[in-house]
Amino acid sequence: MKKTLLITGGAGFIGSHVVRRFVTRYPDYHIINLDKLTYAGNLENLIDIKDAANYTFAKGDICDAELLQKLFGKHNITGVVHLAAESHVDRSIAHPMEFIRTNIMGTVTLLNAAKSAWANDYSDKRLYHISTDEVYGALGSTGFFTEETRYNPHSPYSASKASSDHLVRAYHDTYGLPTVISNCSNNYGENHFPEKLIPLAINNIKNGKPIPVYGKGENVRDWLYVQDHAAAIDLIFHKGKIGETYNIGGHNEWRNIDLILLLCSLMDKKLGRPQGRSAEQITYVTDRAGHDLRYAIDASKIARELGWKPSVTFEQGLEKTVDWYLANDEWLQHVVSGDYEKYYQQMYDGR
Ligand code: NAD
Ligand code: DAU
Repeated sequence: MKKTLLITGGAGFIGSHVVRRFVTRYPDYHIINLDKLTYAGNLENLIDIKDAANYTFAKGDICDAELLQKLFGKHNITGVVHLAAESHVDRSIAHPMEFIRTNIMGTVTLLNAAKSAWANDYSDKRLYHISTDEVYGALGSTGFFTEETRYNPHSPYSASKASSDHLVRAYHDTYGLPTVISNCSNNYGENHFPEKLIPLAINNIKNGKPIPVYGKGENVRDWLYVQDHAAAIDLIFHKGKIGETYNIGGHNEWRNIDLILLLCSLMDKKLGRPQGRSAEQITYVTDRAGHDLRYAIDASKIARELGWKPSVTFEQGLEKTVDWYLANDEWLQHVVSGDYEKYYQQMYDGR
């Protein structure tokens, strides 16, 4: 095998698409997937590639310095793609400390492990940190986030991601660690945990449950199909410039309520219901605290410098997503049992 890469958080939503892409496209890479398997990590996401000759799963925590040292010591890891994180804004509002631990302490523990294993020999090495557009804060009704936009995070989640981005840049500037960062907009697609808007709405529509829309549904997100994000990650890992930041987004802004209406109409078609039936399930609920009004990414740098652009329209991506959820009811049933019920009650009852 030519190189060994460590991918963190590879059992999660985006991570599983990245792991699959790297394992199948690069048979001469050895891919090690390090994941703690929190509620969001699910090895069922990777069932199709679990026995691939170039794939190893390691269960563990990115905050565990000893484990990281062992992994770097045992394998000649030359590249890291770092996705492991606590990722849900609502959970960060209810319980911020796990976000501080994993997103900040975990990232700095990983930076230390790479720095010490690579011992200043940085040739052909690279640590790629995956981040979010939420670090930039919120936009009004116009404008876009560029790579130069000042950081202005509002939730414990986005503040913890902003902090991890700063640490990654600090290790580059101070120690010369070869790092690269990307900040992406909202992803959607297969294997998305149903605490996030799109899969939660698909699940509730299917089961005749209320579709909770926060506030007036006027908040705007810029949606990108997860496999297009994985393709951008592949490109940046191989061709992105060390020390640089790349914004990734779909140029695909939707007000939450318009997105939900589109999804309801698609679900009516797929479930053979009369048009308008699923939309009757829409329920306006108490807004998220500190709810950012609008995110929108200017992705012109990655388009110009690396030639990346999304491969599917939102309508195509959403249809693929809905078809996947309807065909993978077993996956959905496994993730919405047990702890999910408790989470749902705490988050939504009386909202
Ligand atoms: P996710 O919550 O689906 O998955 C996170 C994964 O990390 C899980 O497999 C979990 O088990 C693992 N993990 C959590 N804590 C860990 C720890 N301490 N040690 C090891 N593994 C741990 O998240 P996602 O939506 O796939 O997001 C992946 C990354 O992409 C995150 O860094 C997130 O901030 C970033 N991001 C997400 C989006 C999005 O729309 N989902 C957009 C932009 C950026
Ligand atoms: O922008 C990138 C970010 O996108 C990522 O960094 C995060 O990890 C990811 O979770 C996502 O954050 P959001 O908060 O934007 O995603 P979420 O799916 O939770 O919410 C999308 C929008 O829908 C947001 O405006 C809140 C609203 N919403 C969400 C839920 C779960 C509802 O109206 N009802 C809901 O039940």
